Amino acid sequence: MSDFIEVLGLNDLPPDSHRSVAVNGVQVVLFNYGGSITAIGNACLHKGGPLAKGQVEKKYDGYYVTCPWHGWEYNIKTGGAPPGYKDQQTVYAVKIENQKILLSVKPVTKANKAKHDDRPLLDLEQLRYQTTPTSLNILGISTTNLNETLPRYSTSEEALIKALDHAEKNGASTKLIKLRDLLYRHCEGYYSQHENACTWPCSISEMNPDDGMTGVYRDLVLWADVVLLSTPIRWGNASSLYYKMAERLNCVQNQITLKDKVLIKDKVAAFIITGGQDNIQQVAGQLQTFFTELGFVFPPFSFVGWSRGWISEDMERNVAAFAKSRFVDRSVKELVDNAIWLSRQLKATPCEQVAIPLPKISDAPSKLKEATEDFTS
Ligand code: FES
Repeated sequence: MSDFIEVLGLNDLPPDSHRSVAVNGVQVVLFNYGGSITAIGNACLHKGGPLAKGQVEKKYDGYYVTCPWHGWEYNIKTGGAPPGYKDQQTVYAVKIENQKILLSVKPVTKANKAKHDDRPLLDLEQLRYQTTPTSLNILGISTTNLNETLPRYSTSEEALIKALDHAEKNGASTKLIKLRDLLYRHCEGYYSQHENACTWPCSISEMNPDDGMTGVYRDLVLWADVVLLSTPIRWGNASSLYYKMAERLNCVQNQITLKDKVLIKDKVAAFIITGGQDNIQQVAGQLQTFFTELGFVFPPFSFVGWSRGWISEDMERNVAAFAKSRFVDRSVKELVDNAIWLSRQLKATPCEQVAIPLPKISDAPSKLKEATEDFTS
C-alpha cells in the first residue's frame, strides 16, 4: 500500500482557498496559500471545532487558520499554535503528481494538546460542589441596572436585602451578587454554530477566567442551595442584566441537552419582582420557565410581587409606598421560609437520579436515522 493517497485534482484547490478531505475516515484540511499546498487535521484540539470552516490570515510567522468556534489558531504549514503556545495540530505530507494532490496516509507530525498547568476553572470543570447535606447557602442575585455612580433606591434590591437578612436570622449563609457590579461579556452564540461549541465551563470564561460570570457559575452551580433572584419590571419584562446573565447560563442547560448531565440538582429558586406598573405574573412565568430548565425546583408560592398597577404613573409615591409596605416585609420573609423548608425537604430525600423530560441532542432530527430518511425522501 502506498504511503500517499490521491485526494483532489490540483484545480479543485485554487490559490487562497482551503477545504477538507477524508483520509481513512479522518478529516484533513488542505490549504493553498502563499504558493504552497499544506495539510493539517481538521478537528480543533480545543473542542473539536472544524478548522475547514475557519478563516486563514497571514499573521505572526506565517499563515494561520482560526477555529470558527472559539478562536484557537494553527499555522497551516507546521500545525503549530501561535508563538508562545505549545499545542501542535496533526500535519500531513503533501505531494503533487500529474496535477493531482496526494496526501500521506499517516500524519508526519502527531497532534499534541499541550498540558495547561494553570487551570483556574478546575473546580467548575470537576463540579466540586460546596454544598453539603446540612448546608443552607442562600444566594441573592440582584439584577437591577441601577448605576453605582447614580445610586437610587431600588425596590427589588431592597426587598432582596430584607429577604437575605431574614435568611441569616434563620441560620443561612448568604451571599449577594449585584449583576451591575460585574464585568461580563454577552453570550457570543457559540451554540448557534454547533451544539458542541457551547461548552461547560463557558468558553468565554475559559478564554477569560476573570469574566464576571465565572463567579456566578461558582456561586449558582457549586455553592448555592437556594437562589433568590430579584428583578425590576422593565417594559413588562425582567431586567436586561437578567437576560444577559440567563444567556450566559446556556452552558449549564446545554449539559443536559448534550450529555444528560444535570448540574443543578436539589436546588431551590424563588423570585422577587417589583415594578411601578404591573406584569408580575408574566415576569414570574419567564423566570420560572428558565430556572426549571436549569433544574431548579420551586417552593409553594415561589414569587413575591410588588406593583401599584397600570395607572400608577406617580412614581415618586412608589418608593414611599414600598418602603412602608407591611405586605413586602411579610411576604419576603414567607418566601424565604418556604424556600428554606423546601431545601430541607430536598436534603432529607435527595434526588439521586432525575428524569429529564427535555429535548436532548439524541432527539434532534439529524441524529435520528429514520427521521433523516423522512426529510430527504
Ligand atoms: S477553539 Fe476550536 S473548538 Fe474551541
